[in-house]
Amino acid sequence: MQDLAGKHLVLGLTGGIACYKSAELCRLLIKAGATVQVVMTDAAAQFITPVTMQALSGRAVYTSQWDVREANNMPHINLSREADAIVLAPCSADFAARLAQGRTDELLSLMCLARPIGRVPLLVAPAMNREMWAHPATQRNLAQIQADGAVLMGVGSGLQACGETGDGRMLEASELLEDITTFFQPKSLAGQHVLVTAGPTFEALDPIRGITNHSSGKMGFSIARAARDAGAQVTLVAGPVHLPTPRGVRRIDVLSADEMLGATLAASQTATVFVATAAVADWRPASHSEQKIKKDGSGKPPVLHFVENPDILHTIAQGERAKSGRLFCVGFAAESENLVEHAKAKRERKGIPLLVGNIGPLTFGQDDNSLLLVDAHSVRELPRAPKLQLARELVLEIAARLPERTLE
Ligand code: C5P
Repeated sequence: MQDLAGKHLVLGLTGGIACYKSAELCRLLIKAGATVQVVMTDAAAQFITPVTMQALSGRAVYTSQWDVREANNMPHINLSREADAIVLAPCSADFAARLAQGRTDELLSLMCLARPIGRVPLLVAPAMNREMWAHPATQRNLAQIQADGAVLMGVGSGLQACGETGDGRMLEASELLEDITTFFQPKSLAGQHVLVTAGPTFEALDPIRGITNHSSGKMGFSIARAARDAGAQVTLVAGPVHLPTPRGVRRIDVLSADEMLGATLAASQTATVFVATAAVADWRPASHSEQKIKKDGSGKPPVLHFVENPDILHTIAQGERAKSGRLFCVGFAAESENLVEHAKAKRERKGIPLLVGNIGPLTFGQDDNSLLLVDAHSVRELPRAPKLQLARELVLEIAARLPERTLE
């Protein structure tokens, strides 16, 4: 997905071993559709060469404010005026100190100070040793540059190049890409708390086996990410799936429908939007065997009894919060035919304002899908596209249907 299409970014590198991650970040930004102009300090050039960054960005790298390539000899003005954002990755402790003081004796800090502050955001990915990170001077400088309008992207924790373990590692390139993409998304759900169920449930029969449904969780995880990108607080209740948690999303892992109901009911007390994408098993075994159910040699299979699982969406949609308009509920329907009729009927049966239909076999495990949005007045198709793109469109559709201000 080209989430950064049309964006021109200045990628500023300062001195730190994390510069090796900036090469990958540059590639990911370009893959996401951005154009990237790299600017490096002399210290950064000790860690990774401008040649590497030029080859990856497809543009000559700037390292000096005296660069003769600029006709007016003002690279700090020209480069910053063209940018949609300046991304400092890595930002060293020294560079943060320079920014905090507004120093301008080399190109990158000069450019940061010269940028039109209301139009060109400054995104900062710090990287340093854990003691340097924890030092009051660093924290003071970072607080100052935030107060001056910079966006701090946080740090990772773990083993550092110096051999010590702690906070201060630069975030991974993929994490930075996610944060940069999030930054540019419209904040249509700011102030909302979005609750999403995703994936299948697993209903254990014995310690070895159980029944479950087809569901990769990809659509639900994409919706959680899109809601987060749109500025919402997001709780994701996930059945057993192998997907990474979107950044900034609170994830609660569950197995059975009962567990999913419990976690969802608890989170729904403060949620303002509920999107049920989970493929919940309709039935669970009436009893759970403590030991593996063995073949007894008679050739007769065991007789299994099932009980119906709670309908999580229906339960929440009939709750006081949803009924009083404080919780907007969205359901999904996976059908194999007659999508419009089934989706309309299901919306009414579940008692929800919006139902999203899709054709099961065309979505299971896929990275793209097409959706049919059914509300009380209309039916709208979102044509086949990557699930994250559809999720972003769905988020806008949900935002447009929310009351002006959701009352707590
Ligand atoms: O009735 P059906 O399973 O087709 O409904 C699908 C919708 O209801 C989905 O949004 C699904 O997440 C939700 N659902 C649920 N609990 C169930 C069954 C379905 O929340 N037990």
